[in-house]
Amino acid sequence: ADGSDVITRMKNIDVIEFGRYQIKPWYFSPYPEQLTRANVIFICEFCLKYIGSPSAFARHRDKCKLYHPPGNEIYRKGKLSFFEVDGRKNKIYCQNLCLLAKLFLDHKTLYYDTEPFLFYILTEFDNKGFHTVGYFSKEKESSEDYNVACILTLPPYQRKGYGKVLIEFSYVLSKFEGKLGSPEKPLSDLGLLSYRSYWSQAILEILSKYLDESNGSTPNITINEICDATSMRKEDVISTLQHLDLIRYYKGQYILTLSKDIIDGHCRSFSKRKVRIDSKCLIWTPKD
Ligand code: ACO
Ligand code: ZN
Repeated sequence: ADGSDVITRMKNIDVIEFGRYQIKPWYFSPYPEQLTRANVIFICEFCLKYIGSPSAFARHRDKCKLYHPPGNEIYRKGKLSFFEVDGRKNKIYCQNLCLLAKLFLDHKTLYYDTEPFLFYILTEFDNKGFHTVGYFSKEKESSEDYNVACILTLPPYQRKGYGKVLIEFSYVLSKFEGKLGSPEKPLSDLGLLSYRSYWSQAILEILSKYLDESNGSTPNITINEICDATSMRKEDVISTLQHLDLIRYYKGQYILTLSKDIIDGHCRSFSKRKVRIDSKCLIWTPKD
């Protein structure tokens, strides 16, 4: 790469206005160059159109009819909804979403080619509409059975548990498909923290229920049973059990160490997840 390439890849936008939030970008995103000279980029929070001038943006807001993401609302419980948006049918929206997401993602290649992906947008409802909280994308056909390509919680909504709501939803979709899923690698630092935390809690819940049901008799659960119960792939289950120090590799096989005290101790160390996905509120059938 020559010098100009290095310069254009530096963080190029000071601030974006998105709905009622002003947000400072973290990384470079390839918005058109004349736009990056504006002090603020205005992004319509519903159609994701980006505009450099305040007056042009005001005109757009007057005529923009959307008050929710395009696509189908496939889940609703309380204020939270998920919309499924097809990267082929709503190409511009999805490209704009990728541009927005790139502001907060360092390592992922941007997908101008949105057609092979579905986008699942998490929104929160109020009297003004369905406000975008975050999203994840997913390949329509993944040879590796990845259930997430890219995942993002918008900064004003981060660290409130929405990341785990997105992750849980991705596993509920895998469950409906009858598959075991895993996120595409590499994970960012924040991605790994969030997945670690989600995976640990998902597995601990299963183990804790299992211990309660086994009523003092020697518990006997296999890694495959944990995979089936969580829709997690085997290597993620094993790495999480190793991280929690609940598994030993001995004479060619994995041995789980299950004690109620240890499991309860781990369970207490995680903050209680208030918002959970309720599968009954998902209206969705996997394609083919
Ligand atoms: N510092 C320390 N811990 C953090 C931080 C942070 N900044 N952010 C989240 N965590 C931890 C939380 O403590 C929580 O764990 P806990 O419940 O055990 O305490 C866990 O991660 C999940 O927190 P949530 O509030 O559910 O997640 P959040 O809504 O903040 O979203 C996400 C997490 C999506 C990774 C967000 O940080 C983000 O959008 N980051 C930028 C984009 C990104 O890196 N995406 C992942 C790329 S990898 C991929 O796409 C497959
Ligand atoms: Zn709009």
